[in-house]
Amino acid sequence: MDAFSTLIRVASQEQHTEAETSAFMSDLLGGRLGVEAYTRYTEQLWFVYRALEDAADALREDPVAGPFIRPELMRVAEIERDLAHLIGPGWREGVTALPATRAYADRVAQCARSWPGGYVAHHYTRYLGDLSGGQIIRDKAERTWGFERKGDGVRFYVFADIANPAAFKREYRELLDAIAADDLEKRRIVDECKRAFDFNGAVFRELGEEFPLSA
Ligand code: HEM
Repeated sequence: MDAFSTLIRVASQEQHTEAETSAFMSDLLGGRLGVEAYTRYTEQLWFVYRALEDAADALREDPVAGPFIRPELMRVAEIERDLAHLIGPGWREGVTALPATRAYADRVAQCARSWPGGYVAHHYTRYLGDLSGGQIIRDKAERTWGFERKGDGVRFYVFADIANPAAFKREYRELLDAIAADDLEKRRIVDECKRAFDFNGAVFRELGEEFPLSA
């Protein structure tokens, strides 16, 4: 079996391209959507990252998921600052999860409760992506809607405690390669990663329906 980090990357490559080229992402990165669409997307991230990070304490000592729980990755506080900036101090009253987001967050929470390997699949899909393509999204958001560079509105994309993202990603891949799982379990984790990409695709689809381009 190839290194697990290679396996999971290659297995999700096709879906990665689909996510990147989804109508919503293309429109967002193309600067064709208003800040309301970006805000709605950030709201969805809040539900997903709460599910990921509410589980952190319970999983910290877990042999499979524990090594991945790293304080420098935590995003919920950053998303909350972004939402306060984007919506205002009363933001909590107005935010709602799209049906696809609800399903996604529920699945993350379920994995967190009962299947640490599945949780790792979701962890990988989000955080390694945020450390990579997230930086492209941040740059675009700053330019399109005029957020201060690495400031309020785009804090979700800023990993202030990760000085060297490339090195961090290398270490993360080493953690994947050292995961305490046999080949069958690794295959199940890869399948869950594909599911994680499906969930992201479904959220993008629903966002795309809510913010169609009049063109
Ligand atoms: C337009 C949006 C996106 C862009 C421009 C983008 C771009 C990138 C780039 C350039 C990399 C390679 C970084 C490297 O090799 O170190 C990457 C990796 C990754 N992206 Fe994305 N991405 C986008 C959306 C997404 C989405 C929606 C997800 C899933 C939720 C995702 C998940 C990942 C993951 C898991 C990796 C790490 C692959 C690995 O090395 O194992 N990306 N992305």
